[in-house]
Amino acid sequence: MQKQSKAAMLEKKAKKQQATREIGICLLLFLLLIAMAYGANNRIEVSEYTYRTNALSVSFNQFRIVQLSDLHSKMFQDQNADLLREVRVLEPDVIVLTGDFVDGATHTNVDNTLIFMQQIREIAPCYYVSGNHEYYLDKAVREGFENRIADYGIQVLNNETVQLASDTGQTLSLIGLDDLSLQANILKTLSDEAPDDFKILLAHEPQYFSDFYADAGVDIVFCGHAHGGQWRIPFLNQGLFAPDQGLFPKFTGGEYQEGDTTMYLNRGLGNSAFPLHLFNHPEITCVTLQTVADSSV
Ligand SMILES: [Fe+2]
Repeated sequence: MQKQSKAAMLEKKAKKQQATREIGICLLLFLLLIAMAYGANNRIEVSEYTYRTNALSVSFNQFRIVQLSDLHSKMFQDQNADLLREVRVLEPDVIVLTGDFVDGATHTNVDNTLIFMQQIREIAPCYYVSGNHEYYLDKAVREGFENRIADYGIQVLNNETVQLASDTGQTLSLIGLDDLSLQANILKTLSDEAPDDFKILLAHEPQYFSDFYADAGVDIVFCGHAHGGQWRIPFLNQGLFAPDQGLFPKFTGGEYQEGDTTMYLNRGLGNSAFPLHLFNHPEITCVTLQTVADSSV
């Protein structure tokens, strides 16, 4: 009887130790997940690309375009100091801002975005197009926001084309498409009427790449909106979900080619209703133009 009771006690002790081990492992995994999630949502990555072309004056050689997108009013630590430093180090000639800088779904904070817009403008000339989230704001709030950033010196492109000039005065055309006009024929008209043969398009949503942007005859497109597919599958370069594309979307982040058009799709800086990115860091895109003298590109 005494032996049985001792065996039972030993078994009980072993079970308790096992349970303690399992709780410890779960806790460690949970902490690891928290650390990964924190890193995935706060450690900024820079994706650098070289775009080689013989269609531009050599004066655009090494012209650097930095793209930021989908901030969703996120404030990185210390008033965005890390983010601004990363951009500054890239020494951009221009900065393009491709929409959803406010969040109209869960955490609207226009003031956070305005603080950022005022600071980013100090680094280089900035060009902005709206995303769908700017349109979730009341009309008066959206217009007030656009007026304020215009006051800071950011050029708001609502279906407009401007010319970017190199140091020696050669130009290329930069077209900015308002988010509500993504599918409309207005892009073809803007492209046809652009004053330069070489055209760069800013448009928030990437799912129109093949059917609209490439068809319009632009050379480069900068997009955002897909947030990298929220959670990315390591080693497969595949995101899980993107708005307007659903599960396992085609366009989530990186460089895409359709005919003569190249799209750079930025994974964004902040989150919206889907609050957590995994294996998917906030991203800055930097494209350096490299001009070549002949067609052997
Ligand atoms: Fe968006």
